[in-house]
Parts: sequence; structure tokens; C-alpha cells
Amino acid sequence: MSKLNPTIVAPLVRGLFIDSGGLPVVVAPAAGQAVGQSSGAKAAPGLALALTETCFATDGSLDEVKVAAGLKAAFAAAGGHTQAAGFVLGGSSVTVTVRLGSETLALSVSVLSGALRSVSDHVGMANSAAGRSAVVAGKVALVTGGAQGFGAEIVRGLASSGAFVYIADLNLAGAASLAAELNAGAPCPVACALSLNVGDEASVSAMFDAVASTTGGLDLVVSNAGVLKASSVLDQDEKSFRFVTDVNYTGFFFMVKHAGQLLRRQWRTAPSWMTDIVQINSKSGLQGSNKNGAYAGSKFGSIGLVQSFALEFVQYGIKVNAICPGNFFDGPLWSDPDRGLFVQYMNSGKVPGAKTVADVKAYYEAKVPMGRGTTGADVMRAV
Ligand SMILES: NC(=O)c1ccc[n+]([C@@H]2O[C@H](COP(=O)([O-])OP(=O)(O)OC[C@H]3O[C@@H](n4cnc5c(N)ncnc54)[C@H](O)[C@@H]3O)[C@@H](O)[C@H]2O)c1
Repeated sequence: MSKLNPTIVAPLVRGLFIDSGGLPVVVAPAAGQAVGQSSGAKAAPGLALALTETCFATDGSLDEVKVAAGLKAAFAAAGGHTQAAGFVLGGSSVTVTVRLGSETLALSVSVLSGALRSVSDHVGMANSAAGRSAVVAGKVALVTGGAQGFGAEIVRGLASSGAFVYIADLNLAGAASLAAELNAGAPCPVACALSLNVGDEASVSAMFDAVASTTGGLDLVVSNAGVLKASSVLDQDEKSFRFVTDVNYTGFFFMVKHAGQLLRRQWRTAPSWMTDIVQINSKSGLQGSNKNGAYAGSKFGSIGLVQSFALEFVQYGIKVNAICPGNFFDGPLWSDPDRGLFVQYMNSGKVPGAKTVADVKAYYEAKVPMGRGTTGADVMRAV
């Protein structure tokens, strides 16, 4: 393997350009068309950044702190700040060649068109909420469990607001199908499917390596994948309790650990750039849920993780927050005609006197002051 590991170098280069240009960029392998970049994008003159052999840790791997310092010095010496600001606002792409001894790594840096739009949208709008969606325009986002349900709604909302979105899911076929649908109507790729099992640390780590090598990093991680196995505590077996805990609680820990390592890497060269990790929690993370303890416990526990990780990550410019939606009655979790919660609750007698799916739905809607469930748009607004 090359000593110039792109999973270390590309995020640090991304940070350099963000820091100088003030806008998110995509840093991709120089060969081929970068994601989010139209084929006709003009290329600016290249930038060469030389590192020294002192960038290694004692075990022979690249030391990201030393590489960051080396890249910052080389960038300044090459007049990178002026070039980066000009190219970012000009909307072109630039090739950056990083050299270490006899090895080189060529990267292509480009700006998503949404980022430039957000600049013009924001002119004269300092205190206005009118350009609210510009908050994500041109940014790179990742949504776990993005193939269906709330995740798919968030993916659609981010893409239509001008973000580039990774759709990461156990159901790769579903994620790929949504990515293909979004890309079909766009002038350049706006979505990319990734295979992920949030309960498996190796899978989470490999996914963030793929992100680092494809776009040089990201700005927003929405940790949405979650599962539910409702049962009385008297009957629930250990396997189903652990399954819910592994995905909803331990899986969130894996996500934040590996997202945090990548976001901190970008922060080393872009110390003023704020990034976000948002967990889609639940109202069951704030209030107990009868015969649903495994789920509520995993969500309550995740609030503790969110608050603790937020305290630790603020020093790296990473915000960690949770959104606690109410029931999403229109999503497959509730509405699936065979396995959905409406059918399950009707058959199990959980709702006293309910004989039809409509009875179960009316029972839950009556618990909400607005008389309705949560929609994808509600959650997207919160994101
Ligand atoms: N549906 C609701 O009423 C509701 C209410 C409040 C909160 N939530 C929360 O919102 C989130 C999404 O819920 P939903 O109803 O849209 O779920 P859903 O079951 O409709 O979709 C979940 C998605 O996550 C994927 N997934 C499951 N396990 C995974 C794993 N180990 N790794 C990667 N991907 C995995 C699935 O393939 C699926 O695409 C969950 O965290 C859930 O707890 C849901």
C-alpha cells in the first residue's frame, strides 16, 4: 500500500481548502470525474505540496498531526490560500499533487454547485430564515438507514437542498435504487449508496474510509438506522434484547467513534469549520414505552452518549445532537401491511378494543396534541 494513504491525506487537503475558501469542497482521486462535479467543469492550474519524511509515527504509519502541519506549511508556501479562495468562488476544479519522497498522490478538488448557490442566496440575509435550506447546500452528508422510512425522507430533503448524500444501509439494493433515482434527475451525481452494518465496527470503519477516499470527508452525519423488537420484559429473549441494543446503542457508539476520527482529521486543517453528527433518537428516548423496554432503553442510553460526545467533540468543532421524533405512521415500520406495528398491535391486543388498523392508528393519533404523527418533513426541518 502507498505510504500516502488517501484516507489520511484527502481529509487534510479538504480542510485546507475549506479553511481558505470558506465553503465545503469535494476532494476525490484525480483520475475520473469527481462526485458532484459536472463533466464540463474547467480545471484550474495545479498545486504541488511536498511533505517530508518526518511525517511518520514510530510504527511506520502516517502521523496525521505531522502530515497536517506539513501540508499547512507547503500550502502556505505555494500560495495556496489565494489560489483556493479564487478557485472556490470561481467554481472550477484544481488538481493537488501531494509528494512524499518518491511517492505522489494526485487529488482533484472541486466545489458542489449548491455551495456557490448558497453564497448568493445568503447575500443580504444575515438575520433571515428565508435561506434556511442553504445551511446544507453544497455540503457532503451521510445518512445511515437511508434506504427507507425517515432515513429516505432525510436523504431526499438533503439532496433537494443541494447537498451530496451518502445513503448507507444494510439494504444496499434499496440504497442503490434511491441513489439512482436521485442521480437520474440531476446534472451531476448527488447521491452514492454504501453498504453498512452499524452493529459491526469493521463495517463502520471501512465505510468512513470509503467516504474519505471518495469525497475527502464530509460535513454532516445523520445516524438514523435503528430497529425495534417490542416485547414484554417477562417474555423477551436475550437475543432480541441484544439485537436492539447492538444496533441502536452500540451501533451509534461505533458511528460516532469513526465519524469523529474523520471529522477531527478535517478540523486539523480547518479549525473554524463546524461539522455535525445528528442522531435520530425517539420520543421513547425521553419517556418509557410499555412492553418496548429494549427500544426505549437503547434510546435513553443514546441520549447519554449524545450529551457526553457533544461535551468531548466541541473542541474539534463537531456538534453532536439528537432529534426525538414522534411516531412516523406513514413509514413502513408502522404501515407495512404484513409486519407493520399497526398490524402487530392490533393482533397482540396492545390497544384495548381495537379491531382494525384504523382503530389502532386513531388511538395513537389521539395521544398527540396536534392529532397526527410525525412526518419526514418535520424531521428534515429539525435536521
Ligand atoms: N418510525 C417511527 O415511528 C419512529 C419514531 C421515532 C423514532 N424513530 C427512529 O427513526 C429511525 C428510523 O426509523 P424508521 O421507522 O424510518 O425505520 P425503518 O425500519 O423504516 O428503516 C430503517 C432503515 O435502517 C436500515 N438498517 C436496519 N438495521 C441496520 C444496520 N444494522 N445497519 C445499517 N442499516 C440498518 C434498514 O435496512 C432500513 O433501511 C430509527 O432510529 C427509529 O428508532 C422512528
